[in-house]
Order: sequence, then structure tokens, then C-alpha cells
Amino acid sequence: MKKSFGAKPLAFPLPAYLVGTYDESSKPNIITSAWAGILASNPPCLGVSLRPARYSHAAIVKNQAFTVNFPSSKLLAAVDFAGIVSGKNVDKFKDAALTPIKSDLVNAPYVDECPVVAECRLYKTLELGSHTLFVGEILDIKADEEVILGAILDIEKIDPLVFNYGGHYHKVGGPVGKGFSIGKSLIK
Ligand SMILES: Cc1cc2nc3c(=O)[nH]c(=O)nc-3n(C[C@H](O)[C@H](O)[C@H](O)COP(=O)(O)O)c2cc1C
Repeated sequence: MKKSFGAKPLAFPLPAYLVGTYDESSKPNIITSAWAGILASNPPCLGVSLRPARYSHAAIVKNQAFTVNFPSSKLLAAVDFAGIVSGKNVDKFKDAALTPIKSDLVNAPYVDECPVVAECRLYKTLELGSHTLFVGEILDIKADEEVILGAILDIEKIDPLVFNYGGHYHKVGGPVGKGFSIGKSLIK
């Protein structure tokens, strides 16, 4: 029997993305974001939801741009670090030994150590009480050659992080069935 767990911002799996911006002095910064995900395919849109108090919030508003960086599990400590200190006080790229690369499409840095990155132009903004949803139009996805597997990206090589709200980071498990295919066995 199911038991009420309350009105909580829960979903499975939650991602652990690094959102890249430049502050007003052009210092690159990253914020960890789990309240985020793909929202549309045409134009391709990726949303990140940030509290107005985050240093990164003002940077997105100012630059009308951000990057979303998909870290591998080996970047775990850096991902958590970027989610507990503010770019207002520290240089997170320097302290986490990460390399900022200026996007040639938008005014935002991406994280060279992340195997896949998305360069986003701010498309729409929606105030949602505690958070602002920044919807970015993906202008390009850049991926390390080693993770490109024909027309798709190799999730096992990317080795992305999954976050359990209030708990631990996890790795993804192996494949269990092909999409748009395995369900055909139930078509009558
Ligand atoms: C796993 C994890 C996920 C987080 N997700 C979000 C999020 O989606 N939105 C948000 O506003 N803050 C989120 N945070 C908190 C920010 O990352 C944190 O406050 C960060 O220090 C803000 O950085 P900034 O001030 O440099 O922008 C998250 C933190 C962690 C550890």
C-alpha cells in the first residue's frame, strides 16, 4: 500500500548538471543544478531552475546565456563543491581544477572536463515561486569524440551522475531494453 510522502519537489532520476556563466567581471562560474531537464525538441530547449539568490541567477539574466555541462562520475567532488560554495566568494573553476572554455556561440563558458556540453541562448524565463525557470535554446551540443557512438552518445562512457534529492549521487546502471521498441511486445 502506498503512503503519502508529502508535496515535495521529487522526480527520478534527478540530474546533476553544471551550469556555466560569466559574472559581471567576466569571471567564469558554475552552479550545480538538479532542478533541470529537456523541455522541447524544436527548438531544442533545456531548462534549469535557479533560486534568485544564486550568484548564477543574475549572470544568466545579464548574459541571456548559459551552458549546461554533463559531468562524469569522476567529477563528483567538483560537482558537489559547485553546489555548496558561491562564485560570489570563490573561483570555482580554479579551486576544482576545471578548465573554462569560452563558447563561440553564446557568452558563457563550458567545462572542458565534461564529456558533453550544451550551449544555450536564453529563450524564455518563468517565475515559479522559489525558483526561476530559465529555458535555454540549445544552439549546439559539443561532445568528446570518445563518447560519440554513431548517431547517439555513449551513456556508459559519459558515465553521468544521478542525484537522489536529499541523499547521494548515483551512477547509471546498464541498458535494459531499446527505446521505442521493447514496448512493441505489448501492442495487441
Ligand atoms: C546536487 C545539488 C543540486 C542543486 N540544484 C540546484 C538547483 O537546481 N537550483 C538551485 O538554485 N540551486 C541548486 N543547488 C544549490 C546551488 O548549486 C548552490 O547554492 C551554489 O552554491 C550556488 O552557486 P552560485 O552562488 O555560484 O550560483 C544544488 C546543489 C546541489 C549540491
